Amino acid sequence: MELIRQPQDMAAWSAVCRAEERSLGFVPTMGALHEGHLDLVRRARDRHAKVVCSIFVNPLQFNDPADFNNYPVRLAEDEALLREAGCDAAFLPVKEALFEGFTPHAYDLLGLDAHWEGPLRPGHFQGVVNVVHQLFRFVRPDAAYFGEKDRQQLLILQAVAAHRHWPERIVGCPTVRAADGLALSSRNLRLSPQERAQALAIPRALELLQQEAPITGIAKATASARDHLASQEGITVEYLGVARGDTLEPITDWGDLGSAIALVAVRLGPVRLIDNIALTRSVTASAVGL
Ligand code: PAJ
Repeated sequence: MELIRQPQDMAAWSAVCRAEERSLGFVPTMGALHEGHLDLVRRARDRHAKVVCSIFVNPLQFNDPADFNNYPVRLAEDEALLREAGCDAAFLPVKEALFEGFTPHAYDLLGLDAHWEGPLRPGHFQGVVNVVHQLFRFVRPDAAYFGEKDRQQLLILQAVAAHRHWPERIVGCPTVRAADGLALSSRNLRLSPQERAQALAIPRALELLQQEAPITGIAKATASARDHLASQEGITVEYLGVARGDTLEPITDWGDLGSAIALVAVRLGPVRLIDNIALTRSVTASAVGL
């Protein structure tokens, strides 16, 4: 696996891929890699001749300086994991070079930042879209792989890519969870064993909502899942709600929808954790996991 630090070297490596007509898959990350990231790498490896994974803790997207300063960094472990996963190049851009001549662009996020993470993390999604675009300039992949774990990020990137006619395909991939149901996240590394146990209330609340929403309706199921989560020791609920899957507009009843997304954000110990799950209106469909 190649280790590439200079954006210009990344561009040159990518140009060789193109000259050889090898398709290039890209997995942007902020490191402290876990199975969720590695699943994206493997999916990209299955579909492309070459795979690049970037590791860059992007200052533009952190609205909380403490979160940025304490973001876990484990480059040696990350490199070993990427090698094992069959990644062809790790792009660890030098910050000054990545942002040379860069001025942030105010993207039209098409209203997709109006709810959930948007109001709670001002500037966050602009920071994400700006850095992804900047990474794309050097990597120039055919497709880039993102997790549904950050569903709002995924939808925003898909919408902006379509709106601005980016040539890169934005591919969404399912959330990878620990055996007990907690969504894998680099921030889980900062939880104490007790907090890690308390965090289980997050997937439990989403599962409760998933089971109840087809039966009691969205408003009632949301209220009972939120009450349940809020009563858990150590957890402060920032939001727990249900949205249309396409626009992420909050909803309180099914209307004519057959499916929806439940989203949650909590504070727990030193971190903020987010998760989401798909809901289906029909009991039978959700019971068989459709
Ligand atoms: P990061 O949080 O490192 O995540 C990198 C990618 O891995 C994102 O697409 C994220 O959705 C995905 N991911 C994280 N946990 C996952 C899980 N449990 N299952 C499946 N996929 C998972 O998201 C970012 O970094 C940044 O915002 C970035 C896009 C790199 C821009 O800086």
